[in-house]
Amino acid sequence: MSVLNGKKILLGVSGGIAAYKTASLVRLFIKAGAHVQVIMTPASKDFVTPLTLSTLSKNPVHSSFFNQDDEDAVWNNHVDLALWADLMLIAPATSNTLSKMTTGNSDNLLVATYLSAKCPVYFAPAMDLDMYKHPSVLSSFTALKSFGNIMIPAESGELASGLSGEGRMAEPENIITFLEADLESKLPLKGKKILITAGPTYEAIDPVRFIGNHSSGKMGFDLANEAANLGAQVILVAGPTHYKAKNGLVEVINVVSAQDMYDACHEYFNDVDVAIAAAAVADYRPKVVALQKIKKAADEFSIELEKTKDILASLGAIKKNQFLIGFALETENEIENAKLKIQKKNLDLIVLNSLQDEGAGFKKETNKVTFIDQDFKIEPMELKSKESVAVDILNKVVLHFEKS
Ligand code: CTP
Repeated sequence: MSVLNGKKILLGVSGGIAAYKTASLVRLFIKAGAHVQVIMTPASKDFVTPLTLSTLSKNPVHSSFFNQDDEDAVWNNHVDLALWADLMLIAPATSNTLSKMTTGNSDNLLVATYLSAKCPVYFAPAMDLDMYKHPSVLSSFTALKSFGNIMIPAESGELASGLSGEGRMAEPENIITFLEADLESKLPLKGKKILITAGPTYEAIDPVRFIGNHSSGKMGFDLANEAANLGAQVILVAGPTHYKAKNGLVEVINVVSAQDMYDACHEYFNDVDVAIAAAAVADYRPKVVALQKIKKAADEFSIELEKTKDILASLGAIKKNQFLIGFALETENEIENAKLKIQKKNLDLIVLNSLQDEGAGFKKETNKVTFIDQDFKIEPMELKSKESVAVDILNKVVLHFEKS
């Protein structure tokens, strides 16, 4: 999945012949799953029509401070447009637009929006070869880079003037590759390996029956997707569940029993930077698994159970630098019990689920958790979707690496 998936992209088109290539660029953004809004300078409309870019972006195209065609002359709020964007790309960026961006000359909507943008800004210059080398243009590049803007260098080849050299706007495919590589390199968990457990475990009684629980696995899968979106390499050890990882980069190891989950976790743990135990592991399993289906006989029937291994505690016992996060599901003395689990399992952070909170727990779309860290700092969170809880948990992981 492209890192551009779900990103809100503001494309500023200025007036050069390369503007016709923005039709392909918008199409590639949409294909990557991005949301696109386009701002055009008045001059760019001579090279590509707003209708083309509006059709491809599935959004109205903005080119002036107000919509002249509207009876009410609705104002195009450049501040709202700028704040909407996760990233702004000016392509093609002509020498005129680059110079206005440098000096703050906001006589068109594109430059006014650029000046209001708080998101990362990229620019892909396009001009003739001598213009591209002119000291005035070079000083625009230097100034914009000093503002923190990122240049997508022009490419060499045949130019509209008939000359050949450096100055052609980077090809749309190359712009996409550049953006993806740049965004990926800046993901906060890039280079980190995370092990996550999810779902229930099934403990066999006989070939057709098992002891299990109602865990859906959603929390663990949401954590895995979000961690992968943040750039981490994710190994998800999942008990039986119908969930699939949305992010194709998540490596899913399917297991059935607590022992399988234990073995899989120990295979990977030494190699990871973070482990999050979100699985609802069975605490007990039948001492003996019948080889044949148990037939109905006496009125009463009991199964002798033995403890499974506590996977999280076993990881806590051997951990070196790994940041270890566990969950606690409690129905009474929640905080005290959770604190005991932090110590007993040698955790860095525990995510306490209280079944007393409405909307929290198994088979629910939402969760209400409280974070407790190693120093017993308690942070209660609002009721929110499990996806948002996953984001909160991974923010704690990001914060941990920022501090260390
Ligand atoms: N856990 C585990 N292996 C087990 C049992 C639990 O890895 N055999 C992990 C869970 O994934 C969770 C944490 O331990 O992150 C706490 O689980 P919880 O069920 O709240 O607590 P238990 O330790 O099982 O204790 P109890 O059931 O007595 O509250």
